[in-house]
Amino acid sequence: MNRFTPLTVSGKHLKNRLVVPPMASQTANVEGLATEQTLRHYANLAKANPGLLMVEYSFVDLSGRSETNQLGAHSDACLPGLSEIANVIKQQGTLVGLQLTHCGGKAPRVICSDLMGPSGITVPAYDRVLEKPRAMTREDVELWKTRFIEAAIRAEKAGFDFVEIHCAHGYGLNQFLSPITNQREDEYGGDQRNRSRLMVEIIQGITQHTNLTIMARIPGQDLYPEGLTPNQMLETCRYFIEAGLDVLDVSSGIGGWNRPKQRRGQGYLVEESAYIKAADLGVPVIGVGGIEEGDFIDHAIEQQWLDLAAVGRAILHDPEGFAWQQMKQPSRELEPS
Ligand SMILES: Cc1cc2nc3c(=O)[nH]c(=O)nc-3n(C[C@H](O)[C@H](O)[C@H](O)COP(=O)(O)O)c2cc1C
Repeated sequence: MNRFTPLTVSGKHLKNRLVVPPMASQTANVEGLATEQTLRHYANLAKANPGLLMVEYSFVDLSGRSETNQLGAHSDACLPGLSEIANVIKQQGTLVGLQLTHCGGKAPRVICSDLMGPSGITVPAYDRVLEKPRAMTREDVELWKTRFIEAAIRAEKAGFDFVEIHCAHGYGLNQFLSPITNQREDEYGGDQRNRSRLMVEIIQGITQHTNLTIMARIPGQDLYPEGLTPNQMLETCRYFIEAGLDVLDVSSGIGGWNRPKQRRGQGYLVEESAYIKAADLGVPVIGVGGIEEGDFIDHAIEQQWLDLAAVGRAILHDPEGFAWQQMKQPSRELEPS
């Protein structure tokens, strides 16, 4: 097995093991609708010829938006633009997924006037100081659930093959998972099962209402004091899979997606996907973090650190030139450090 080995995931056929992860392009208009620039951007990324291309984090409700030019999936007005994006990517024989998000307490107040989080606790972030959000009511929790499911239904109507709920990088659903930001005393807080409950209900809802293949972008751990541990994340993964999840996309947690200071080298987050892969949970696992060479992907597949490799910035900088298709000898040490 190597990077060219196809993989079928719940009936969807990926032509190879390369994934373009979701990357915010900030090309939507202020209403969250795709523009010509958005279409050009995705047509360009598709030139890397990945098995799966994930479209950037798209807000499910206006209250969950974190950037002015963020793509939306919050209303039927988004459907034509989303359909065009899916179409442009699929022309290259690549499968397409849409990542769905609610920022919760992780946004500047000028963009999100009603900052809310599971317990009204300020979200720690590597790159900025955030304001304290208000604590969510049960009605807010119900609204998030409904909005994620409605946005997934839209993704299917628009022609997407996969949908991904964004539970990582400190955004709203990560805030539910993490003991740092979730100190609720109802059934959505308290222990790991309860902290996973909202996402479990979203996954069940998407399974019930669509035929989409469902992914979750999850933290391997929070890498923050008192934050999510690898064992807690394994427990969460089991609840997600029981609820109908098809693919685990393993990244970082509270703090953001940037490389944690203590991690170095190519595949700097791959040890997170590796421990989840080692638990043999029965669904494909995506690993990410500074991957730049096809040889590294082959090595990581062979070592069973991951099933699919996500390559972000190396593709963003040069989709056509990214050398993953060339057979060449490893040029340097392949172990993630
Ligand atoms: C410009 C940019 C935008 C990003 N936007 C998102 C996003 O919308 N959703 C997400 O889950 N991760 C996002 N990320 C993180 C990437 O998906 C990926 O995890 C990260 O860049 C590490 O992979 P790499 O080292 O191959 O770039 C973004 C990264 C970049 C560089």
